[in-house]
Amino acid sequence: MRLCGRAAAVRRRVLCLWLLLLGFALVTLALSDLFNRDRDHSHQNPAPPRRPLQRIPSAPDLEVIVDSWDPALELGVDVAPLKSLQEDQLLFVPSTQGTKNPTQRKGTYKVILPGVIKGTTAPPARTHEEIGKQVRLHLEDKEKDDELSAVQKYGFNEVLSERISVQRRLPEARHPECLGEQYSESLPSASVVICFHEEAWSTLLRTVHSVLDTAPKQYLQEVLLVDDLSQHGHLKSVLSEYVSHLEGVRLIRSNKRLGVGGCRSLGAARAAGEVLVFMDSHCECEKGWLEPLLERVAQDRTRVVSPIMDVIHWQTFQYNATQWPVRGVFDWRLDFSWESNPQLQEKDPDSAVQAMRSPALGGGVVVIDRHFFQSVGGYDPGMLLWGAEQIELSIRVWSCGGSMEVVPCSRVAHVDHHHLPYVFPDQEGLQRNKIRIADTWMDAYRKIFYRRDTLAHFIRQSESPNITERLRLKRSLGCRNFHWYLTTVYPQLYIPQDRPALSGELYNVGTGSCADLPRGQGLQGGVMNVAPCSGTGSQHCDLNSDSEVRWGPMGALCLDAEGEKVVVTPCPKHKPSSSSSSSSSSRLQWKFIKLSGQLVHQQSQLCVEAVKEGGLSQSSQGEANTRTSTGRLLLRPCTHHPRQQWHFEQLVAPKGA
Ligand SMILES: *[C@@H]1O[C@H](CO)[C@@H](O)[C@H](O)[C@H]1NC(C)=O
Ligand SMILES: *[C@@H]1O[C@H](CO)[C@@H](O)[C@H](O)[C@H]1NC(C)=O
Repeated sequence: MRLCGRAAAVRRRVLCLWLLLLGFALVTLALSDLFNRDRDHSHQNPAPPRRPLQRIPSAPDLEVIVDSWDPALELGVDVAPLKSLQEDQLLFVPSTQGTKNPTQRKGTYKVILPGVIKGTTAPPARTHEEIGKQVRLHLEDKEKDDELSAVQKYGFNEVLSERISVQRRLPEARHPECLGEQYSESLPSASVVICFHEEAWSTLLRTVHSVLDTAPKQYLQEVLLVDDLSQHGHLKSVLSEYVSHLEGVRLIRSNKRLGVGGCRSLGAARAAGEVLVFMDSHCECEKGWLEPLLERVAQDRTRVVSPIMDVIHWQTFQYNATQWPVRGVFDWRLDFSWESNPQLQEKDPDSAVQAMRSPALGGGVVVIDRHFFQSVGGYDPGMLLWGAEQIELSIRVWSCGGSMEVVPCSRVAHVDHHHLPYVFPDQEGLQRNKIRIADTWMDAYRKIFYRRDTLAHFIRQSESPNITERLRLKRSLGCRNFHWYLTTVYPQLYIPQDRPALSGELYNVGTGSCADLPRGQGLQGGVMNVAPCSGTGSQHCDLNSDSEVRWGPMGALCLDAEGEKVVVTPCPKHKPSSSSSSSSSSRLQWKFIKLSGQLVHQQSQLCVEAVKEGGLSQSSQGEANTRTSTGRLLLRPCTHHPRQQWHFEQLVAPKGA
């Protein structure tokens, strides 16, 4: 008990630290609120309404650069209402073609002419020497821009990317059966909306060119580039100039930061195609990617579809095809992932070419009927900058009458960022977006989320999201509840029980640390250890009524034993109680003795012990973890040693529905 008292003191200190951090966050919040109020106030005396299409000399919210090849298209576009942007804040700038001399540009760029471009994407006639040639621009200060700083700036190896053609061809990765597929002759037209913020030149242009080179002209209404307030010089007039010579490409600039959802909504409002293709600004489309997607949407306008997202490595820019079948999922921390799982494939010979229903779709490429997109509520305008908006869209589409699927005969590759080049000004933006999802869509199940994201819980305690409009939308569309979504759309998601005293961080009395799975072990599990208690909910686990200890935000990993080592492995698909005689499932069964704090492995009747590094380890492998303040979890004969005493500690107690 004395040991417990010491443990409690440690916990109190951790709690104090949390409260301190929370206090700081609140003060920051209050200040930024004050600032925002001031700013909002200044907007409350609007000038008399202006006519659309009028030029505003100072600080327009939006600037549209029209390419001159078909200005009528731009002016004739029916501008759908967009609440967040007033029409009188729009600014239209005529094409810069012919009016700007490239030599007058600021000296940060030089123009390199690698050769004549071929095929259908040749820009229309130009006024200068580069006529009919592909323009490629290089940062002049590239010499000092070594790979490391480029990686820091963009989240990938921009220096290497610059050396790769903006028109490279990816290898054929489609299933042979896809090549024989026939598509309707009268597919709907598509507007490809590409939002970007501080994107690197090479990746942005490679995205644009790959669309132009692969999408059949009769289906491609336009490529809409939407600049979400980029500051980098190469994305300014140089880009405008470049785009003005590309047929079928329009550039829209926003003068305020919109974030992914807002930026895509802006593009959608300006799009003329029947179908919207939202695409990240660092993609490479592969041959034949558009037709299968349009076909699925044409057959059912409430269907939202995605290609298979192949991976371009952020360091090597190597292309890696993703294995089919794959589908989009998310976990109880509301983090999205693609799940490549051969077991998902039925024994159906057609499954190589047949679309597969997907509980969610990633944000990389999303294809949706324009009218359905608007009627189902677009993107949530209350979401900040970046993060979780694709999960919100997914739950909403499914719950409100639509469906989602991955189409295997369509492939688009996406640069896999190792980190995001642009972070939230406040790290809590992502949490706030998730809070909106939890409170709008998850009903009582949101408690499961808040236990696994304690930062979100603390933010939610001090502020309420304004989801009035979204709840109204949900009501007016007659959307189904989250229970329906979980049972009908995503029955594979484990629903944690989170019983008090049997779930939470698994705290070890002897070491004062918590059971942990070292990062980078992936979905297949790995060797467990003890590490400093995170307090974030990332170490949450759940001892359920099937005697499994479920680990991880998906709840898909089970505490398991491998010799004397405690590991986590993927949980069996069927409930262990239905096959309790099998050795693999009894190996996954644990008993927690509350009185002694012992966690007993049922099959071996051994107890889980935390072994400090350099401590009592008798392991012959000697594969010591090099990190300090960690230790390993081993099965040992049961004793009453504090290193065998555990508590399941729930960090937060979210309010009910
Ligand atoms: C390609 O992806 C697979 C898994 O999807 C991975 O095992 C493999 O190492 C990757 N190859 C390269 C070259 O990145
Ligand atoms: C929430 O937003 C709605 C409109 O979106 C607004 O009418 C209402 O005043 C807002 N509520 C609060 C408490 O700010």
